[in-house]
Amino acid sequence: MTYLKCPAPGDQTAQIVCAVCHEELVRPRSVVQAAVAVVHCSKDIVKGGIGGRVEAIRPSLPQGPSLQLISTSTRSYASEAAPTTLPGTSRVVGFWLLGCSALVFAIVVVGGITRLTESGLSITEWKPVTGVWWPGSEEEWMEEFTKYKQSPEFKMLNSSIDLENFKRIYYMEWLHRILGRVLGVAFVLPAIYFTARGKLARKDIWRVGGLSLLIGFQGFLGWYMVKSGLDESITQVPGAVPRVSQYRLAAHLGAAFTLYAGMFAMALRILRDHKFARGTLDLKSFAGTTGLAPFRRYAGIVTGMVFITALSGAFVAGLDAGLIYNEFPYMGENIVPPVNELLSSDYAKGVNSDNQYWRNVFENPTTVQFDHRLLATLTYVATTSLALASLHPNARRILPTSTKRLLMGALVAVNAQVVLGISTLLMLVPVHLAATHQAGSVILLTTLLGVLSSLRKPSQLAQLARRIPSESHALRATLQKKIPVPGHIPAAIQPSA
Ligand code: HEM
Repeated sequence: MTYLKCPAPGDQTAQIVCAVCHEELVRPRSVVQAAVAVVHCSKDIVKGGIGGRVEAIRPSLPQGPSLQLISTSTRSYASEAAPTTLPGTSRVVGFWLLGCSALVFAIVVVGGITRLTESGLSITEWKPVTGVWWPGSEEEWMEEFTKYKQSPEFKMLNSSIDLENFKRIYYMEWLHRILGRVLGVAFVLPAIYFTARGKLARKDIWRVGGLSLLIGFQGFLGWYMVKSGLDESITQVPGAVPRVSQYRLAAHLGAAFTLYAGMFAMALRILRDHKFARGTLDLKSFAGTTGLAPFRRYAGIVTGMVFITALSGAFVAGLDAGLIYNEFPYMGENIVPPVNELLSSDYAKGVNSDNQYWRNVFENPTTVQFDHRLLATLTYVATTSLALASLHPNARRILPTSTKRLLMGALVAVNAQVVLGISTLLMLVPVHLAATHQAGSVILLTTLLGVLSSLRKPSQLAQLARRIPSESHALRATLQKKIPVPGHIPAAIQPSA
């Protein structure tokens, strides 16, 4: 059956027939109209309950140098067996986002090592452009060293450091900063290119724009955090230790995790949609039809719990709270420390009141460590029960294979993370263990984002594209063919009227 009939060379009688109702549609006056006529088909499919939104297809059509969704000759449809190309956001964008999220992961690890090696306060200025270079000559090194000598960290903790050791911590912080800049360039320039070439659907342009802003904001947050560690007033406080604000550290880590999750989840969505449209994702992975919504909701809650536990870890790190109570599961005499220690009046002093006991949650190292243990335990139980639930015969029957595999990955990751956390604590926070513990939290988050993505319904556009091949070789071909934009339409398909 011919659904879409377009002209052979020299033929001026282009005509489109609806794939669903077989009704003859408008005779296309232009290539764009031909494409819209195909979209009209998708409207019918929407009515049939399968999906497909007009706006989802339309923006990708007239922008690029060539159009998809347009047919050439009826004869070629029958021989077409290649998979469907999904209009909208291009597959290459998915790979690019995957690469960028890997870079964010690397920056998080380097950032952790920077903090753990006490290197984070070695560069005392923020020069977004000229800071690209490290000091070239001995004079420049001496200049940087002199600036560092003014910092509270040098005066109160590090006054015996020599130039060689200063260079070491400087390079570490410089590496962290330069990787942040590389991410900025590797994200923003391709984002502009992809937008200009019409490789992003409209909604994804906004999402990519939001992620670009978040990268910029993350750079600013990094400096805002470092600034708190350079505050001179701390030298007047007896017994104080110069370090960055734990609030700002948590904000910096939280923004990094958000950036990572945003890029990674978007990459998975795009790649999965393309896989689905091409028919290389099995239909069982189409979890939307198998009543898995509660499972997905629970996976979403567990992912949120991992995020919150990680944030609480940043408070432990920011207050050096891993250097007290180096035992497990006890904290002193009991598993739970005494209430007067957890809610100490020493940490309840605010600007206007001495009764701000909530401050203990964020400022008292004992409470902060206890909170992290508590949240980690809850996260451990939640992740384990989610993974074990997938072993139930009913769940095994309906869950996509990828979900089951990823849940086993999450189970391994959460166990490793707890073992690493306890080891970090028992061994008084050695750099290698603490850095691996931090990386472990990103790996755990990754497995859960994978679980969530594997349970996600493919987009309506992907469903439409997947549907078309099963119904019509002709319509599948319309999703593959490329024909120049209006204005460059070959004579063969120029409007006849
Ligand atoms: C799901 C479980 C856990 C997650 C997701 C998690 C996550 C994190 C994260 C993200 C950090 C911050 C690292 C940084 O900012 O540099 C951290 C720090 C820390 N965590 Fe955990 N953690 C978990 C379990 C545990 C457990 C069970 C313990 C031990 C009782 C533990 C002990 C620590 C310690 C001592 C630190 C501070 C390390 C430092 O100073 O760098 N964690 N955790």
